[in-house]
Amino acid sequence: MNLILLGPPGAGKGTQGALLAARLDIPKLATGDLLREAVRRGTPLGLSAKRYMDSGELVPDDVILGLVAEVLGSPEAERGVIFDGFPRTLPQAEGLDGIFAESGRRLDGVLVMEVPDDVIVRRISGRRTCADCGRPYNVFSEPPTVAGVCDVCGGKLVARVDDDEATVRRRLQVFAEETAPLIGYYRAAGVLVQSISGEGAVEEVQHALATALAA
Ligand code: AP5
Repeated sequence: MNLILLGPPGAGKGTQGALLAARLDIPKLATGDLLREAVRRGTPLGLSAKRYMDSGELVPDDVILGLVAEVLGSPEAERGVIFDGFPRTLPQAEGLDGIFAESGRRLDGVLVMEVPDDVIVRRISGRRTCADCGRPYNVFSEPPTVAGVCDVCGGKLVARVDDDEATVRRRLQVFAEETAPLIGYYRAAGVLVQSISGEGAVEEVQHALATALAA
């Protein structure tokens, strides 16, 4: 099964995508995670992507399509993929269509997660990640036992560079301009598009996504 999770920054795509991937036993392909890993490793791709990411702009389409094609060529992706944060532009959606056409796959659906901007800004302001082991936290919804310290490894919890309010507002604007139009693109192409609310507890949102999938 190939599914796209589409939604603004902070809608919960990463959180819900991981749960859905486990439920469906298929990998999650998150372009943001792939890019952050490239930045962490200091690869040429990571170095060139960093300036876009830090300012809330999109990384160029050819870079993203190259990354995605590489992952989709791996044996783990054969049974399907949950796309988290991809595609984000019309050229990326067309590029994915081309990759699918060449490999004889098809897109099974698009799940759109809707969350109001002010909820997103608050949520993202609470996001922290362990600098050592990468475990995610949120000071509002999933706080560590000791503030600023990872429960698992004792590492320091840090905020993402692009999670300050001004950059989040720019990311929301980029979503509205570049990514939201993909909803119409997929509807026009006859792909099943279902919208669910991303507000409420993580389990409630997962239940809504699973119900949408079952339908
Ligand atoms: P990316 O990493 O994809 O960021 P994003 O789309 O902005 O999404 P986020 O990771 O901020 O949020 P999310 O929806 O995954 O929510 P999450 O589950 O983490 O991209 C970063 C950058 O990389 C882009 O700006 C761009 O520069 C570049 N990039 C990436 N892909 C690209 C592409 N295809 N093309 C071009 N450039 C690309 O949740 C957020 C927080 O809320 C967490 O703290 C979580 O714990 C909490 N939370 C989740 N659900 C709930 C809930 N139900 N209730 C309360 N809190 C919740």
